[in-house]
Amino acid sequence: MTPPRRTPVEAIDLAQRVAEYRHDTEFEATVRAQPFRFRATWGLFSPREVDEGTAMLLDAVEVAPDADCFDLGCGYGAIGLTLARLAPQGETWMVDRDFVAVDYAQRNAEANRVTNARALLSNGFDAVPADRRFDLVASNLPAKVGNELLTLLIADAHAHLNPGGRLVVVTISGMRRFIERTFEEVFGNYEKAKQGRQHTVGIATRV
Ligand SMILES: C[S@@+](CC[C@H](N)C(=O)[O-])C[C@H]1O[C@@H](n2cnc3c(N)ncnc32)[C@H](O)[C@@H]1O
Repeated sequence: MTPPRRTPVEAIDLAQRVAEYRHDTEFEATVRAQPFRFRATWGLFSPREVDEGTAMLLDAVEVAPDADCFDLGCGYGAIGLTLARLAPQGETWMVDRDFVAVDYAQRNAEANRVTNARALLSNGFDAVPADRRFDLVASNLPAKVGNELLTLLIADAHAHLNPGGRLVVVTISGMRRFIERTFEEVFGNYEKAKQGRQHTVGIATRV
């Protein structure tokens, strides 16, 4: 059977949408009084605006001006670039296992003139030297990677924190109990910093 033919109008509409989707998304956001202009692309997490959970984490996080920070799963860089601005005397690393995310995070650092942040392709902490420590690890944790990888990421975050350093994560609220249990197991402590309808921000401190 011959497949139904698209009308010329339908074909033009599709071509226009495809052409449109090839363009970067671009938006302005003010986070912790820091103005940014972000670029992202389809397939990256929350490419049209700073995600609600990410904004909740950034509202809750305390950061010293000289803190060395680490954004675990940086996407286009919303968390890492905000931390880098809040800690201008420290250095911020942003990692993601998606090379497209790393590319956009690095370009967003340059476009927003954030010179104390760098983006790196890394599966968790795998590309980070074993002796590199940070004062703050922050993450909007990926929700669908499984408890095994999440446990690894939390244990590795602990290993890469200075004493007194903190791991701050936001998750969908359904993951809250798992995060609480795992933080207690790995760090020996857990603090719920913020609880919204959909997201929870949890903190653990390396003793
Ligand atoms: C929920 S998104 C958060 C993105 C960004 N931080 C934000 O707040 O907009 C989680 C990110 O973690 C990344 N990711 C997933 N598994 C990872 C892993 N094993 N190592 C590094 N990054 C990972 C994903 O590619 C994704 O960009």
